[in-house]
Amino acid sequence: MDQVKKLRNDFPILKGKLIGRPLIYLDNAATTQKPNQVISKLCEFYENYNSNIHRAVYAISEEATIAYEQVRTKIADFLKAEDPAEIIFTRGTTESINLIAYSYGEKNIKKGDEIVVSDLEHHSNFLPWKALCERKGAKLKVLESDEKGDFVNIKDVIGKKTKLIAVTLMSNAIGLIPNLKEVFEAGKKAGAKILLDGAQYVPHFGFSLEETDPDFLVFSGHKMLGPMGVGVLYVKMETLEEMDPFLYGGEMVTEVTEKDVTWNDLPYKFEAGTPSVADVISFGAALDYLDKIDMTEMQNHINDLTEYAFKQLNKIDEISIVSPDNTDINGGVIAFNVDDVHPHDVGTILDKEGIAVRTGHHCAQPLMNKLGLTGTVRISFYLYNTKEEIEILVNALKKVQEIFFNEE
Ligand SMILES: Cc1ncc(COP(=O)(O)O)c(C=O)c1O
Repeated sequence: MDQVKKLRNDFPILKGKLIGRPLIYLDNAATTQKPNQVISKLCEFYENYNSNIHRAVYAISEEATIAYEQVRTKIADFLKAEDPAEIIFTRGTTESINLIAYSYGEKNIKKGDEIVVSDLEHHSNFLPWKALCERKGAKLKVLESDEKGDFVNIKDVIGKKTKLIAVTLMSNAIGLIPNLKEVFEAGKKAGAKILLDGAQYVPHFGFSLEETDPDFLVFSGHKMLGPMGVGVLYVKMETLEEMDPFLYGGEMVTEVTEKDVTWNDLPYKFEAGTPSVADVISFGAALDYLDKIDMTEMQNHINDLTEYAFKQLNKIDEISIVSPDNTDINGGVIAFNVDDVHPHDVGTILDKEGIAVRTGHHCAQPLMNKLGLTGTVRISFYLYNTKEEIEILVNALKKVQEIFFNEE
């Protein structure tokens, strides 16, 4: 991508003020950095129209309400949703999935029903279902993936009793993009609801509800240049109408008496209390930023970086790579281990070189157990990363090996 050098200037944190050297940020699967356009939108809100929304008749509140609702419409357009009322703001993917587990699950999942997840899930898309199954006497079943991203036990796992399938579009731990076609077909045949965890996928590839038609789609604004505190929950209208509120309080009702309540219109029925107004509005600026970049061009750049990183890492002895090396099924995440060195030690030494990577189990312990690992070092790319940064990383990894091999 030609404009990478230029757009890096939009990200003040990359200058590395805190660490006194340019920051090499390779932990984008955890959260991405924010451009000035997003940061200044936050300040603009607090400086000019900080107020609560949907409630007041005065000018700044009207301005805030319009700006907040414009982002809902922007997201509906981004996803090609039929109706902006199908977009609910939450605080993040975790909250969105818990909302579904309570609002949909409590009402619709019964004893003996089955919920299906995959072995690639982040804990956020595993634990709410495990807990729901335990509360309801339902059964949690797990799709097993192979190294190509195909699921090998679809027929054994998805059947008449399957009520909900909750699967990731891309693994946060290893970057694998699973092949969900047959899962979709089996799910539709079983009449199951389908939830797609887009926390990793949507920031890289976007998503078209016109092409793929799940009942639920969830993702987090902070993983795509937006501020922390904004999650997007898409629910298909017919499913939304089957759901009870999650949180009870202000704004989600129109009439309250001691005996009766009338819920507010959709989507407000699911947005009780004061939402993250400033964050939602500045997430709108993040979407505008991504729109200008062109997401296809961005993913081509990330594919280039991923391929380059594989090539460079493969040149170093004693590095075991866990992620798939084919960018058709890897969205820009490389998990690896430096043999005989604990991932935390690798991460600590890289940090001294100004390189931020993730180490540990990446909130995906079922997958780590399957791979026979307790953890990995994980690098994950976004639009501002460069090949030069990968070269610095590779040299720093050689230093890690020197330190540990010299000690022996
Ligand atoms: C695939 C996946 N699902 C869910 C989550 C949880 O997202 P959040 O922490 O924004 O709620 C993450 C976060 O890393 C993720 O990668």
